[in-house]
Amino acid sequence: MPVSLRKIDDTNRTAVLALRVAPEQEQFVGGTVHNALADAQAYPHANPWFRAIYAEDVLVGFVMLSWNVVPDPPVIIGPWFLWKLLIDTRYQRKGYGQTAVRLIADIVRAEGGTELFTSYVEGEGEPWPFYQRLGFRKNGERDNNNEQILVLKL
Ligand SMILES: CC(C)(COP(=O)(O)OP(=O)(O)OC[C@H]1O[C@@H](n2cnc3c(N)ncnc32)[C@H](O)[C@@H]1OP(=O)(O)O)[C@@H](O)C(=O)NCCC(=O)NCCS
Repeated sequence: MPVSLRKIDDTNRTAVLALRVAPEQEQFVGGTVHNALADAQAYPHANPWFRAIYAEDVLVGFVMLSWNVVPDPPVIIGPWFLWKLLIDTRYQRKGYGQTAVRLIADIVRAEGGTELFTSYVEGEGEPWPFYQRLGFRKNGERDNNNEQILVLKL
């Protein structure tokens, strides 16, 4: 099914805010889209860029990047950092998360980026196998929250 990234506006904002992961997954993504948008407001210097993820015309998830930011590790990782990614629990394990990351990689590459960073919280059900399968590797560093930093060469 074709996956696309669309802007969040008055037509879809309520539905985007209603996206949910399983309760035990909230630790990996910092809670809800509401929390992510609050983070975006709290850290404008991290240059947040976000989109809703659609499969055909069905809203399935949310993604947020640090867009071409000046890196200041271990607080700001970049220039291109996959900050939040969530696929609603109803639509997980259908390939949408993987396709969304590939679309993000295409966008970053088109902007001249050569690396896409992310990080993850360790624990039961952690997303490391998901990122590993996409080609991300541990770079051996951690951020200021002790999260493992991962990098995908573009
Ligand atoms: C992690 C997440 C984004 C994956 O999205 P998804 O659409 O469910 O994943 P995909 O269907 O594209 O998965 C592709 C492959 O990644 C692996 N994978 C996906 N989710 C996984 C998980 N939770 N644990 C282990 N491996 C996983 C699998 O190998 C999967 O292939 P398979 O289903 O054929 O076995 C989604 O499960 C999610 O939103 N989780 C909660 C929040 C989170 O952890 N976000 C990431 C950190 S910000």
